[in-house]
Amino acid sequence: MAASSSAKVLSTFKPGLFNSKVAIVTGGGTGIGKTITRELLNLGCKVMIASRNVERLQKAAKQMKEELDKDGTADISYQRCNIKEEDQVQSLISNTLKEFGKIDYLVNNGGGQFLSSIGDLSTKGWNAVIQTNLTGTFQMCREVYNQWMKDNGGSIVNITINTISGAPGGGHSGAARAGVDNLCKTLALEWARNGVRINNVAPGPIYSETAAANYKDLPFLTNTIPIIPCKRLGTTEEVSATVCFLLSRAASFMTGQTVTVDGGASLYGHLIFKAADHENSEPYTWGEYTAPTLADYYKNKNPK
Ligand code: ADE
Repeated sequence: MAASSSAKVLSTFKPGLFNSKVAIVTGGGTGIGKTITRELLNLGCKVMIASRNVERLQKAAKQMKEELDKDGTADISYQRCNIKEEDQVQSLISNTLKEFGKIDYLVNNGGGQFLSSIGDLSTKGWNAVIQTNLTGTFQMCREVYNQWMKDNGGSIVNITINTISGAPGGGHSGAARAGVDNLCKTLALEWARNGVRINNVAPGPIYSETAAANYKDLPFLTNTIPIIPCKRLGTTEEVSATVCFLLSRAASFMTGQTVTVDGGASLYGHLIFKAADHENSEPYTWGEYTAPTLADYYKNKNPK
């Protein structure tokens, strides 16, 4: 049957796993969000994709429908929504309920940032990234809860980044994503009684056509390969598989957690940031003892 043969290609999970389920995926028309949408559809889920660019959504929806609809099951809809705008978030949730009758899953994938060190970052740039990644996620969670999940339960997955060691070069995004990590823990506690689970997925360096286009400088991604213990870039399918697992009953005892999907990269150090050599730290002495500095290190390494 066409359904099972395409499922074999597009998902590790059991065909029909999400039959009769309904999901919203923000940023579902490109990159990781598009792959998540494709896998959900392939597993029988009805999906509403949302982002600011309606033409892109329309194109992606048409493409995925054609790709998967050979067996007549792909049920995808799209709506323009800027997650920063409260009224647009409210109408995304209410229109999804009007169209599909319920919302089982929410994937907060829409977000973004630009590279900037904090010293060079304007308040406008800071606010934009905080509003998209933190306030947008908060508004999506609150609205889906108030309009549906409070009375019916559900499962939420937020796509974030690893922030355990800060986020040099993207401090605005790191602060926002660390905020989402903490929000996730709060909501796991506040909403468990309503049958709502919420978890985060933090992807590491992932190759996607969208990433390649956004970072025209693809070496930005490929340069990280030597410091990824798995020694390759990840794929959007590997992120999607983790999202599907967390949404599904297989993860029914997991809530408030962040799952990192990065080939071990976060255990190995910063991918692009290197602490520069300098002699600018205040010298530390304690009685006879003086803490060795970089100059001592080089002296010992290269004795004359
Ligand atoms: N993806 C990136 N920014 C977004 C926004 N403001 N709203 C929805 N999706 C987005």
